[in-house]
Amino acid sequence: MCYDEAMSNFHVSLKKVVDDSYDIAIGADLFETLKADLCHGLMGKIRRFAIITDDLVKPLYADGIASLLSEAGFETEIFTIPHGEKNKTREKKAWLEDAMLSKGFRRDCAVIAVGGGVVTDLAGFTAGTFGRGVPFLNYATTLLAAADASVGGKTAVDTPLATNLIGLFYQPKKVYIDVKAWETLPERELRSGLAETIKHACMADAAFFAYLEEHLDTLLSVSRPGSAQEKEVQRAVCMHIAEKNCQIKYQVVEQDEKETSGLRETLNLGHTVGRAVETVSDYRLLHGEAVAIGLLFQARLGEKSGYLSADEVSRIKALLEKAGLPTEIPDDIDRETLVKKLYTDKKVRNGAIRFVFQKGIGQMMCFEDGSYARAVSETEVRSVL
Ligand SMILES: NC(=O)c1ccc[n+]([C@@H]2O[C@H](COP(=O)([O-])OP(=O)(O)OC[C@H]3O[C@@H](n4cnc5c(N)ncnc54)[C@H](O)[C@@H]3O)[C@@H](O)[C@H]2O)c1
Repeated sequence: MCYDEAMSNFHVSLKKVVDDSYDIAIGADLFETLKADLCHGLMGKIRRFAIITDDLVKPLYADGIASLLSEAGFETEIFTIPHGEKNKTREKKAWLEDAMLSKGFRRDCAVIAVGGGVVTDLAGFTAGTFGRGVPFLNYATTLLAAADASVGGKTAVDTPLATNLIGLFYQPKKVYIDVKAWETLPERELRSGLAETIKHACMADAAFFAYLEEHLDTLLSVSRPGSAQEKEVQRAVCMHIAEKNCQIKYQVVEQDEKETSGLRETLNLGHTVGRAVETVSDYRLLHGEAVAIGLLFQARLGEKSGYLSADEVSRIKALLEKAGLPTEIPDDIDRETLVKKLYTDKKVRNGAIRFVFQKGIGQMMCFEDGSYARAVSETEVRSVL
């Protein structure tokens, strides 16, 4: 600290070297792995865990995790929110905080999020501000959370204006991706999760795109009974998909954790129109369904600018359709409201709507000024609408 006589100015020196590295465990049924990690000191001396989940995931996974950890001598309390995007709000965050406080949770606790992206986003944000920040773990039970939401350290809640506007960059201490949990997912949710997976393939990996074209049916059969051999094949496909998603997402996150260089904006592929459709539909469309519509929208827009060929656009459309995802904006969504909603997108700069685009299949467009997003006029948007 240095003292300036004339102005009584104190300089507070708080340079930090931060290591937020963490592991992602990918496998089938990871309760025991989680328990072993905690027993071996993953969370230091912390013995109290607030398990945050939703009402559908609680009986399937959170209860089991809580009893296993209790048997191992940890103190656990489950906090349950109703399921669904409409509950990823500031109000539910405040409710969770009050509930945790009333149960005596203070700074000496940690949070374990057990569920899909709604739970991991909300629980991560809650952990990031509770007692000015307590550590948290993600136990991801949906394909969407595995592919995207639970990894990368973005936490948030939605507001009436738009999704994910209020939140924190706050990294978990470890992420558990339980591919066996995909077996209990309703088929619509599994399909919805595929949108972010297809997005990753479009962005960064043409071979992965081809793999999805070939193996999608196997993934979609995970909830059906099958022989031991069929189950083994399904498991291998799920593991490969989970691993590829992490690899592609982390190639970006490791270089631009807080979206400072613009590279992380590439993960927003399909989300400009996707998020607008999601909000304007009042969440009737699931996140992945809206992203699927947004993915094809940017592909068509990109085709007009020569970023990808008609044939590549057709392959993207075919893969989204094979995944059972919508590709067209529903007729009952008012186009004018949608265009207005595009201006609430976080990529908007100086009042201009900006899109990120794929370059063919497996690469992203990078523009002359080094940025990955470019301004798109309303006229261009309307030409595809
Ligand atoms: N933080 C990020 O980087 C990021 C990235 C992408 C998406 N997201 C967010 O993720 C959310 C969407 O994620 P989601 O689709 O996982 O949503 P979700 O948490 O709502 O889960 C979907 C539904 O499946 C149920 N469910 C969860 N796991 C289950 C299981 N194994 N078996 C049966 N039912 C199960 C849930 O109760 C819910 O009804 C959105 O809020 C989106 O904004 C965040």
